[in-house]
Amino acid sequence: MLLRNLSNLDDLAYYGKKVLMRVDFNVTIGKDNKIGEDYRIRMTIPSIDYLTKRGAKLILMSHLGRPKKTDEIKAKQTDKIQQHTTSEIDINAIKQFSLLPVAKRLSELIQMYNVSFIDDCIGPKVQKEIDKMDRGDILLLENLRFYSGEELNEYNFSKELASLADIYVNDAFSVSHRKHASIYGAARLFDTKLAGLNLKKELEYLSMVKDDPVKPFILVVGGSKIKDKIGALENLLPKIDKLLVGGAMAYTFLNANGVRTGDSPIDYEHFQWVKNALSNYRDKIILPIDNIVTSQSFLKLKQEESNEKKEEGKEGNDNSRFDSLSSSVSSLPSLVSSSSSSVSLNKGAIEEGLLGVDIGIETVQQYSSIISQNSNGLVVWIGPMGVFEIGLFRNGTNNIAKSMALAFWRGSKTIIGGGDTLDALKKAEVSELEVTHVSTGGGATLKFLAGDEMPGIEVLNKIP
Ligand code: 3PG
Ligand code: MG
Repeated sequence: MLLRNLSNLDDLAYYGKKVLMRVDFNVTIGKDNKIGEDYRIRMTIPSIDYLTKRGAKLILMSHLGRPKKTDEIKAKQTDKIQQHTTSEIDINAIKQFSLLPVAKRLSELIQMYNVSFIDDCIGPKVQKEIDKMDRGDILLLENLRFYSGEELNEYNFSKELASLADIYVNDAFSVSHRKHASIYGAARLFDTKLAGLNLKKELEYLSMVKDDPVKPFILVVGGSKIKDKIGALENLLPKIDKLLVGGAMAYTFLNANGVRTGDSPIDYEHFQWVKNALSNYRDKIILPIDNIVTSQSFLKLKQEESNEKKEEGKEGNDNSRFDSLSSSVSSLPSLVSSSSSSVSLNKGAIEEGLLGVDIGIETVQQYSSIISQNSNGLVVWIGPMGVFEIGLFRNGTNNIAKSMALAFWRGSKTIIGGGDTLDALKKAEVSELEVTHVSTGGGATLKFLAGDEMPGIEVLNKIP
């Protein structure tokens, strides 16, 4: 895909110019305003650096979560009392979704430049702040989604955004499947609109996967939602050499293949699609031969414990890469037996009253060896192999992460996508540097691989 990107303009084109860049700073912000994983923030630094070094005045805009629309709330209040101040709006609703903590993290990450923040994203106050900017300054605007015009792609809101700058840049691959004002409507109004460097990189890797994959090509999918993955799977199945299935979705595949799956969740809505895929690609699709199983009540108990730990910030890696190197697969039987009879390793049919929560030992061995022996090809991994938030059910996901790293070091291209995967890598103590490319996108990555419309990318080729 030929898209104009930052490097296509002369260096001088940015000097003293106002550049409006859409980024995806939609990160998890916990209690005490602590930012969880900041990968999405870090991935925008090459573009930020590129532009500020060339003397641009850089205006960053993003959404965060799915907040209430404060413009609508304000309008209602105005109706009622004919006046409004911010204090009358639900302050907590704003605070929880404010990008202020992100501005702080960004200034820690790029100390060379001056990062400021303004608590709105359009209007005279914002204009005034922009007028004060010097070359090399960075201004982060408040959450776009406080305005209903953002998600509705409203023309007036788009126009207000577009009036802030001379040049438009999209460096937010992970939101490019949304036809929102900051992604589409505002972008349309610029003569000069460019892909940022992270968007460029995402498109290079994901286009290779979609259109011209390096062979042998192994795809590993897990997680629960089959629906979101059907488009990507339909597109990729003809091109792949092997599909390794894990996670909750594996039980629908097993069930469709005639294996009894006990109380494991089955996606009946997409059951027929799975059956067809299994019969059309019989020789490519590999399903778990054994599973870790437990009861619904034990799973619930563990989930509650894990949520509590998360809230208290006590979540850790109970399974370090070094420890698991020495024990790895062989430690699993003791792990299973030490948690009494609540958790067991199960081969073949799963009994009523039990459900699968992770791939089993033989499956781990088989999947790991297929992945790590692919030393010259491509491995793409989307979605965890089990309920990996819980230490007991993390062995499959951990081992896939480690095998991905091994395939990478042996010379394969490895690509990881999906919202949870960075977290899974961290838990397995595999670093981002041991992966060829970690996509910032979850939904966007799947949509792109499915060949669906990506408004934020297509608009960059449109003449205003
Ligand atoms: C994401 O987290 O997937 C992107 O930031 C898009 O967010 P959205 O799903 O709320 O549009
Ligand atoms: Mg999302």
